Amino acid sequence: MQVTMTVNGEEVSAEIEGRTLLVHFLRDHLRLTGTHWGCDTSNCGTCVVWMDDEPVKSCTVLAAMAGGHDIRTVEGLETEDGLDPVQQGFMQCHGLQCGFCTPGMMMTARALLDRNPDPSPQEIREAISGQICRCTGYATIVRSIRWAATHPDGTQPADATEPAPETAGSPA
Ligand code: FES
Ligand code: FES
Repeated sequence: MQVTMTVNGEEVSAEIEGRTLLVHFLRDHLRLTGTHWGCDTSNCGTCVVWMDDEPVKSCTVLAAMAGGHDIRTVEGLETEDGLDPVQQGFMQCHGLQCGFCTPGMMMTARALLDRNPDPSPQEIREAISGQICRCTGYATIVRSIRWAATHPDGTQPADATEPAPETAGSPA
């Protein structure tokens, strides 16, 4: 079957099997491998992208269901003005180690900040509670998102790196 959608602002069209998941369409057909695939159980959240500005787990969406919709992936976060403050925050606050969860975390973070520009650490933990990080203990992820909230226009390269977190723990 033929499917057509907008991905990161560009219309794409491809011939796919009806069972193709959106995560595989993005990775295998479009080679947008920033969106990761981490489980077969809809639990890990590393596959989060936006569909019409709402975060979705792309392993739970058939590519055919995304037809006619506007999809944004982590490759679409950066603009001509530079990295999104969320991306900068993950660099400044050491929000990643292996980086496998990071694309999904960033997409959820940007969606959160777009509807709530000043979320509390607890609100951030609730927002990412559907996503798993095996490395960081989540504290640096929360700090990274808080950094983005307090630097909505990003930063200059000379801006100091945030200090290490005080605690680690589960996201919620
Ligand atoms: Fe794990 Fe989608 S790949 S929730
Ligand atoms: Fe490794 Fe999150 S940084 S899973």
